[in-house]
Amino acid sequence: MGKSSIKAKMVIDKEFQISEIDPRIYGSFIEHLGRAVYGGIYEPEHPTADEHGFRQDVIDLVKELQVPIVRYPGGNMVSAYNWEDGVGPKEDRPRRLELAWRTIETNQVGTNEFMDWTKKANTDVMMAVNLGTRGVDAARNLLEYTNHPGGTYWSDLRKSHGYEDPHNIKVWCLGNEMDGPWQLGQKTAHEYGRLAYETAKAMRLVDPSIELVTCGSSSSQMPTFPEWEAETLEHTYEVADYISLHQYYGNRSDDTANFLAKSMDMDNFIHTVIATCDYIKAKKRSKKNMYLSFDEWNVWFHSNNQDKEIEPWSIAPPQLEDVYTFEDALLVGSMLNTLLRHSDRVKIACMAQLVNVIAPIMTENGGGAWKQTIFYPYFYTSVYGRGVALNPVVSSPKYDSKDFTDVPYLDPSVVYNEEKEELVVFATNRHLSETLEVDIDIRAFEGYEIAEHVVLEHENAKAVNTATDEQVKPHTNGESFVQDGKLTGIFPKFSWNMVRLTKKQS
Ligand code: AHR
Repeated sequence: MGKSSIKAKMVIDKEFQISEIDPRIYGSFIEHLGRAVYGGIYEPEHPTADEHGFRQDVIDLVKELQVPIVRYPGGNMVSAYNWEDGVGPKEDRPRRLELAWRTIETNQVGTNEFMDWTKKANTDVMMAVNLGTRGVDAARNLLEYTNHPGGTYWSDLRKSHGYEDPHNIKVWCLGNEMDGPWQLGQKTAHEYGRLAYETAKAMRLVDPSIELVTCGSSSSQMPTFPEWEAETLEHTYEVADYISLHQYYGNRSDDTANFLAKSMDMDNFIHTVIATCDYIKAKKRSKKNMYLSFDEWNVWFHSNNQDKEIEPWSIAPPQLEDVYTFEDALLVGSMLNTLLRHSDRVKIACMAQLVNVIAPIMTENGGGAWKQTIFYPYFYTSVYGRGVALNPVVSSPKYDSKDFTDVPYLDPSVVYNEEKEELVVFATNRHLSETLEVDIDIRAFEGYEIAEHVVLEHENAKAVNTATDEQVKPHTNGESFVQDGKLTGIFPKFSWNMVRLTKKQS
């Protein structure tokens, strides 16, 4: 190889199954915030806009990512949102002060338009209701509007707006980050638990087929975590299907080794939430499992300072427009690995967000659309990470960083797609200067050979992509090989990798 390397080992077996992966683990998020909607998915004046004003160039990129579900309309914004403002004739819709982000909301896009967009983008919606400034009544009316076939006030109103068939939205979030002091209508755990329970009860009476997500903590750093989970679940355990988790990371102290280890915090967060759910399950002598919806996750910090300069009450200003670096893409790859390794309990996850706002896809108003660095691990994991997640037995050298001890240099996840006879290894090499040579026992995969080894690597941790210059993009010259039934993974220093094996056709 001619490069200095360190060695690791891994055993992969068909029998070591974590779970069938719920495709919704590759979900994303569009909030009425910044240029996510206006200038992102919707820009009627854009040269690629369709008859509804949706940018086709953006739809094409979203389709490339194969995003199965998109959370909407917020986020912090939903906690003061009147959904009625966004339906009916566009010329009659009110302009409102949007208090979460201190902008003007024109309401030119609302529930029905977003449903139209999801069809075009080949995705589904995960709808949030306002439990900040509103409550049971607005939530049950919205559900009647979207899901009831007809013959009632709200369902007939939908029909009169041109939507004869119900939207049949299946997954609903009971508010957003209700533990956060920044949230309009923040609640104590007791207040939220009661309100979420009563809202869930009413919504299930309107449509028993829906699935409900109860709010967990806004991050693992919240002072009320995990007591918030324990106390709210006392109320919502039997009516909710999922509890939410949100987490963003940043490299504020410019310590790359420590930054790359932050997916270990995500792992720990998931463990604690599972433990808390199972504690309430035991306490309630319940037979039901609570599943996890990690419905906001990403890197978010680059834009924090510039956002302080934004003029209040502007329309769709460039907010939360993080320009992602190469090292961000590596952490995103490891966060996806973490989600896959917990796919027995994490059934929904949303990269926050999808377009312009802390997003893998960027646009220029009136101009082009392009891929940020983080687009790539998200793309490959979403497209090829379908099937069963396997539990790799890993033995890797480790390091200590400022906040973490025993950080494995090798961070993998493994997916087996039986139907396609495909085995996929995703791996981050966290070592900043050494190649990682991994001896991988693939004993149960006789006759499998490498179809491609995709590598995302760059000399400069801070390299970024812009509209005109794509510095960070993957190549397929990975050097891994299979010999005598053994896969040797060669993962370059400081890189993200996907090794895809398929069965040799005899
Ligand atoms: O995704 C950006 C914001 O982060 C969301 O509006 C909020 O839910 C979270 O704090």
